[in-house]
This record gives sequence, structure tokens and C-alpha cells, in this order.
Amino acid sequence: MSQTINILFLAAEAEPFIKVGGLGDVAGSLPRALRALSDDDVKLDVRLVLPYHPAVKAENLKPLGMFSLVRGGAEIQVEAFETSLNGMPVYLIGGEPIRASGSVYSLNAMLDAEKYAFFSFAALELPRHINWQPDVIHGNDWHTALSMYGSLTKSWEEGARRVASVITLHNLPFMGPDASAIIESYGLKLAQTDLPGWARVMPLPLGLWASDAIVAVSPTYGREILTQEYGCGLDEFLRSRGETVSGILNGLDVASFNPADDTALGANFELESLEKRAINKGLLQERLGLLREPETPLLAMVSRMDTQKGVDLVFAALKMMKRSKWQAVILGTGDPKLEEAALELQALYPGRIKVETRYDGGLARQIYAGSDMFLMPSRYEPCGLSQMIAMRYGCVPIVRAAGGLNDTVTHKVTGFVFEKPHHLALVAAIKSAFKVFADREKWQAIQRAGMAQDFSWENSARKYLTLYQSIIKKS
Ligand code: GLC
Repeated sequence: MSQTINILFLAAEAEPFIKVGGLGDVAGSLPRALRALSDDDVKLDVRLVLPYHPAVKAENLKPLGMFSLVRGGAEIQVEAFETSLNGMPVYLIGGEPIRASGSVYSLNAMLDAEKYAFFSFAALELPRHINWQPDVIHGNDWHTALSMYGSLTKSWEEGARRVASVITLHNLPFMGPDASAIIESYGLKLAQTDLPGWARVMPLPLGLWASDAIVAVSPTYGREILTQEYGCGLDEFLRSRGETVSGILNGLDVASFNPADDTALGANFELESLEKRAINKGLLQERLGLLREPETPLLAMVSRMDTQKGVDLVFAALKMMKRSKWQAVILGTGDPKLEEAALELQALYPGRIKVETRYDGGLARQIYAGSDMFLMPSRYEPCGLSQMIAMRYGCVPIVRAAGGLNDTVTHKVTGFVFEKPHHLALVAAIKSAFKVFADREKWQAIQRAGMAQDFSWENSARKYLTLYQSIIKKS
């Protein structure tokens, strides 16, 4: 007889409904990849739950009516809607705290905490409302962590069956603010936990404490968070959780990111027609107002302007490379100071660097398809997606050996990897890439090795399935 596993998958954002960052890519594709694993032996009924942010784009919304939670002794209404994504049920949770904060992530930490606490507790009540019982609750980051906490503590109070839970960590430093008053306003007590004192009131640590399994978005990040350097004060607690902490590499939506049929490109290409890539380089140089020089290495950075991403290291490195011949394109928005520094760099190298301080998905694809080297010197990188897209598009990544970068790029095989988060280490890596670039055959071997990597979701989804099965057994 076949087994069905019901999975309630919670996230703050998911493509194509709403996307701010990498979490949106993962939450948009992993649930579908899981459902696609269903076969004769096991069926995965994964259902996605998102906050109904004002900016969410959804078609054919079906209202599911309202239910209420008790907050601060009064009832607060939850509005539930249903839509679908390739046959997967998707639920949107609306209500006053979600409308109040407006954007997906606001600058007001307390407004965000109110919103995500409301979302997390409402999402826990949703299964009862739709008459469907999850076997696993799968949360992502601090925004949904109070679901894991609420699920565990309520099952204790009510003496009910405990639902297995897993939380995926996309970014450990973001833990949410002190939410003790909010948690108590929903009638939940702060539990006695073995967390460090300061962490006992914060959503993410409480969610980690309550989860049966903790998954980092890459094996290396899964090990890094156990160290003092990357553990953000939770390393000792995480180490104490032993085997329940692991790392599963994110996949890439390889159907969407495919140079063979990407409509944003001037010339489509694949492994066998790599030479056509040169057309994209020429078109890109033209579009950016750079000289159309096929032999000049074209460096690229597509990134949020954030010190996490090491964009300042790129600026410092390029400043030092006055004498070598190269061009560069930088695309991204974020920290105004870093945007300004990028524009200063552009002024320093007129005609050699083009900076675009905006989000532009189409231009990003043309950059992946047309530039030669992709710079990603992140100080930490839980997984990272851009390096995978770059490789798939024949753009050779130059990365720091952090987190998912370390797991996806192999030095001198699929890209260039350096250790120290210092601009001199980056300069050295770029120079060694230039040397190989001058040898067409060697360079193409690296491009081809990157393009041949399998970054699809299937392998990773299978690892999540195995994990679900093991925690269901235990719970
Ligand atoms: C966060 C991390 C990034 C990761 C993404 C998806 O944005 O910074 O490394 O790829 O989440 O998991």
C-alpha cells in the first residue's frame, strides 16, 4: 500500500507569488520538486502557506472563509484563501498584522515580529480549518519559526499528537527581535529551553529548539553554523543537537534558467554550441556601452549590495587592478553607501566599468550569458544561487570558500575558489583566472565542466524526503 506524507510548507515569500530574495526561489521550487517525487510507494502532498502580503500576485483566489485566534484576550480574524501552483494547493493567510507592515520585510522589527507571529500561529490553525492533517510542518527562517515552537508547546499543553517538524536555515544571523510579549499575548508561555539566555525570547532560536530537524541550505553551512565564527552565539546549542543538524544543498530551477531556451538572450546556446556564447558577449558589451572586445575578460557581479556578499571586496580589488586589461559590469541594489561606492568606481574607470543600481532580471540573464567571470566573494553564503546560474550559463565563478559556494564550485575545475575574505585574495584569484582565460582550450574546459553540473532539485528533494520519513518515525 502506498504511504501519503502530508507536508505543510511555510515561508515568508515564494516565487511566483512574491519574491524578495533567495528564500523566494527556494520556497517556490522545493515544494513542487517534493511533490514530483511522488510515486507508487509514497505520495507527497506538500501544501505551501504564505502571508497574503499586499504585494502578492495571485490568480483565481478562492476565499476559504475566516477563523480566529485569541490575541491579548480578544479575537483576531484570520482570512484564508486558496490558489494553486501546477496543481499544488497554495494558501494565503491575511489579516490585520499582515496588512499593517506592508512590505514583506519592513524596517520596523516589531511590526515584522507581530506580522510573522500572527502568520505562524494562524498557519498552525489552518489545517483544522481545511480539514487536512499534516504529518510534517516545514518552516523556513525566523518568520515561520514560531510555528514550530507553537506546534510543540501546544501539543504539550493539549496532550495532543506531536506533529514532526523541520526548519530550514537560509540565514542564521536574522533571528527576529525579542518576541516574548507577542508570544504571551497569544496565550503561549515561554518554555524552559536550553538556549542561551538572550535567545530564549527570539523566534528563530525558539523554532530551532522546537524542531525535530534543523537543515542548513548547504552541507558546508551546516558545519559552519556549529563554529564560533558563523554560529552567531548559537553554535554551542546547535552542537548539542548533534545529528539533528544537517545541510542539504538548494537546487536551481533548471527549467527557468536554461541558456538553450532563455528568451532574454540574443543567442541561445548549450554545451555543444558554446561558441555561440560569444554573440551574447558582444551584445552585452554593446548594451552596456563597453568596447566590443571579444578577447578582453569581462568580469561580472550581480548581487544585492550588501557587505555579506563582499561587494566592497570587489570594489577594492578592481581599484588595485589598474594595469591589467579587463571590463566589468555590476548590477544590483541595496545599501546606498555601497551603491555610491560602485558608482565612484565606475567614474574611476570610464568606459571600462558599467554599474546599474537596480533590479533587472532580464539584464541579469544577459550578464550570466555574456560575461566571462562571475565574482562572488561572500563573507558568508548559506547557499547562493547566482554561482549555479553562472556555471549553467558558461560564466566562470570566482568565489570565496564559504557555505554553498564551497559546495558548488571546485577550484580550477568549475571555477576559482579562494579562502581569505580579503581583497588581495580576490585579486590573486582574478589574476589566476585571467591566466587561464588566455588559454582558450583550458578556459573552455572549465566552462564546460560548470555547464555539465547537475544543479536540479531532484537530489536535494530526495534528501528532504528521507529526512521527513526519519522524523515522522521518531515523533
Ligand atoms: C539566503 C542566503 C543565500 C541562500 C538563500 C536561499 O538568501 O543568503 O545564501 O542561497 O537564502 O536559501
